Amino acid sequence: MCGIVGYTGSAPALLVLLQGLERLEYRGYDSAGVALVENHHLLIEKRVGKIRELIRALWGKELKATTGIGHTRWATHGEVCELNAHPHTDERGEFAVVHNGIIENYREIKEELEKLGVRYKSATDTEVIAHLVALNYEGDLLSAVLKTVSRLRGAYAFAVITTKEPNRIVAVKYGSPLVVGLGKGENFIASDIPALLPFTRDVIPLDDGEVVDLRPDGALIYDFEGNLKTKESMRVLWDIISAEKGGFKHFMLKEIFEQPRTVGDTLKGFVSRDYSLPFSLKDFRRVLVVACGTSYHAGLIGKYWIEKYAGVPVEVVYASELRYSDSPVGEEDLVLAISQSGETADTRFSALSMKERGATLVSIVNVMGSALDRESDYTLYTHAGPEIGVAATKTFTAQLVVLYALAVSHSKEKESLMDRLLRIPHFIEEVLTQAEKIKEIALKYAEYKNAIYLGRYLSYPVALEGALKLKEISYIHAEGYPAGEMKHGPIALIDEKMPVVAIGPKDRVHEKLLSNAEEVLARKGILIGVGFEGDEKFKSLCRDYMGIPPVEEDLTPFLTVVPLQLFAYYMADYLGLDVDQPRNLAKTVTVE
Ligand code: F6R
Repeated sequence: MCGIVGYTGSAPALLVLLQGLERLEYRGYDSAGVALVENHHLLIEKRVGKIRELIRALWGKELKATTGIGHTRWATHGEVCELNAHPHTDERGEFAVVHNGIIENYREIKEELEKLGVRYKSATDTEVIAHLVALNYEGDLLSAVLKTVSRLRGAYAFAVITTKEPNRIVAVKYGSPLVVGLGKGENFIASDIPALLPFTRDVIPLDDGEVVDLRPDGALIYDFEGNLKTKESMRVLWDIISAEKGGFKHFMLKEIFEQPRTVGDTLKGFVSRDYSLPFSLKDFRRVLVVACGTSYHAGLIGKYWIEKYAGVPVEVVYASELRYSDSPVGEEDLVLAISQSGETADTRFSALSMKERGATLVSIVNVMGSALDRESDYTLYTHAGPEIGVAATKTFTAQLVVLYALAVSHSKEKESLMDRLLRIPHFIEEVLTQAEKIKEIALKYAEYKNAIYLGRYLSYPVALEGALKLKEISYIHAEGYPAGEMKHGPIALIDEKMPVVAIGPKDRVHEKLLSNAEEVLARKGILIGVGFEGDEKFKSLCRDYMGIPPVEEDLTPFLTVVPLQLFAYYMADYLGLDVDQPRNLAKTVTVE
């Protein structure tokens, strides 16, 4: 949802900005741009398309400027074109701004400034920031920015540079993420930690309502009233290697293959503290799970486990639907927010508004130090490492580990129930050995235009997740349904051109699922199965079959999802699509 980066020091800023932007490209890739302060002039270069277009445009240019800002865009206001690409400037070209988020009252400000004679160049909300800072400037960039933020409504992070103070960046966080990176004689800002990893591991994630005044020799943090704050830096433990492709063609494939390790690492987090948690689900009337996309699907699986082992009713809601609802939520409720990034605006803001109504907020996040992590009463971490591919894979299975651990923490048999999980990394490895076979199957279906995914009980959310993976990276229309619901309408879609992926491990609803599979066959649908190895009955119904090792019913989602991730990946790759950065999407969605 746009990525911003900034550098001030003694090295050529451009190199730092471009490397940082490449690592932020997952946040948006409609256009990219940089602004540098050189000889008291702003040098601005922008290109539509990916960072590589910008790099091409800058190829061979010797830019020695040591302060600059950069941006990669996911368009919200204004079409994708060079004019709307960031950085944006004031009329005299003395101030440049990069921005992530939305300025909700930009129209009002724009009209006001137009009456003063200001002429706009772009159709973005961001441009108002550049004009306001210029108008508010009286010799000190920090004061001008503080005056400006008092006028802005919305959720945003932005950074400003000016020709008038060449070695200074002032950046603001309010609702969108921003991290300060600390170096020796040089300092950085970025929307996310991976952009900083090539340069430093010492970071300060900013909180909402904070402004950083960045110079080569220091980073001072203020609140919006201009009061200086003292903040501790933290050391990032991820290494740069885990944020790189490591020989795989795409990050997504690498991340699918990392799952034995990431499931194991997340599990270790619980083993090391004896599976105990600082709160009990049983103290609450109900659990309200709030999440989006893949994290929402993990929440749906968690519901079955929590209701089974903790006996507490669970509701799972799309975060974007909850925020403006009148759902009666209070002190008796535990809100469980699930988010890989910990920055998703829908999830954060709906969870926070439930917290304001008195609920206890627990979150499951992958990014330590993210906004949700800091805003929650308790955080449970997935230890999946950075996930760069836009389609979530390894963080999904890591979220399942946490949800399962949370559910069984209430059982007298929690240790033996957790012990079962210890075998999951090995079983995932077994599924991954089937990758070539899954690829062959995937290629057969790559030219189809639609697909239906069916599952029951724990396999229903897996069906939703399988369909989401396929549509987001291959652009093939795919829908997941509870298999039993087919006969109430969607079965009308089945004919000889409709691939139907049925997820049918041997669980309490296996026989029912087989009946639903027969119903598909009776209407000439093409059946592709995901089920236990050795389940000859199910396999014999299917045109193609992806086997997983037999496991206890509870654990099936950890395994059934893996062939579906690979199935979607190989199809999208075969179609020549940009698997890691599918069109129209962004990894971290910080707008509502
Ligand atoms: C799907 C995907 C998205 C995210 C959703 C929530 O592959 O990546 O659907 O799951 O945007 O993101 P987080 O978990 O960061 O809140």
